[in-house]
Amino acid sequence: MSLFDFSDATAVVLGGATGLGRAMAEGLASHGATVCVVSRSEDKAKAAADAIAEQCDGRCWPCAADVASEASIRQLRDTLSARYAGRLNIAINSAGINVRNPIERISVDEWESIQRVNSTGAFLFAREMFPLLKSSGWGRLINITSIFASRSFPGRTSYASSKGAVLQLTRTLAIEWADENITVNAISPGPFLTDMTRPILDNPEAYHRFCENVPMKRFAEPHELITACLFLASPASTFVTGAEIVVDGGWLAT
Ligand SMILES: NC(=O)c1ccc[n+]([C@@H]2O[C@H](COP(=O)([O-])OP(=O)(O)OC[C@H]3O[C@@H](n4cnc5c(N)ncnc54)[C@H](OP(=O)(O)O)[C@@H]3O)[C@@H](O)[C@H]2O)c1
Repeated sequence: MSLFDFSDATAVVLGGATGLGRAMAEGLASHGATVCVVSRSEDKAKAAADAIAEQCDGRCWPCAADVASEASIRQLRDTLSARYAGRLNIAINSAGINVRNPIERISVDEWESIQRVNSTGAFLFAREMFPLLKSSGWGRLINITSIFASRSFPGRTSYASSKGAVLQLTRTLAIEWADENITVNAISPGPFLTDMTRPILDNPEAYHRFCENVPMKRFAEPHELITACLFLASPASTFVTGAEIVVDGGWLAT
């Protein structure tokens, strides 16, 4: 059996309509998985799912959900359960928001909105996907964290704190679910060219300054994250759990 044949696998990618989530949804669909692409916007989810299905000759379908809302993530679970007969193999959480501000300019509302989506959202998604992952016989939960979960950088207190929480959520769940045949891992990207990094990309001076932190001296393209995702989602990684794969052009090694 091919280690990267996902033709019997079901998947959901939260944040799957754009950026890194979109790349991972494309990677899974092009290797045979049936993939649910989730966005807050129904139209965006549908446009992305249709485009991926056509481009990858794959099976892709859309769903709208807001990870900041418990009711919405419960609804997503019910929709997935109905579509996948109560079973789900691969759950990827690529939803996230970032605000760059020194701490004296961060309001409580701003702080809480970042934690709500990035950290509480990761908890809600994991909790609601659990019964489906458990029922499927083998499961994979993959959280997209960040190198800022463990590397400090000024102006990122709210974002870095939220991603640190997700990394520890990942490691703790890996232990909790170890005897359920569900692996739980994190991918920590360094700088990638997506909408999230647009404020840096749109400022050539800021971009070059930021690249100085990266031994490879560049931002990555979203497709450069796909193989890490395929590895963690596949039978190639059956004994890998509680791990963090860092895809950062060498930043964390500095
Ligand atoms: N790009 C980087 O350099 C980088 C580096 C480290 C980590 N990351 C992480 O990678 C992940 C993907 O980011 P990206 O770079 O691909 O940027 P992006 O294109 O802005 O993707 C962020 C995704 O989060 C989704 N999202 C935001 N709030 C949500 C909510 N309340 N409910 C559901 N979905 C929500 C968005 O979906 P909709 O707008 O379609 O609803 C969007 O698809 C994030 O977790 C980010 O923190 C990115």
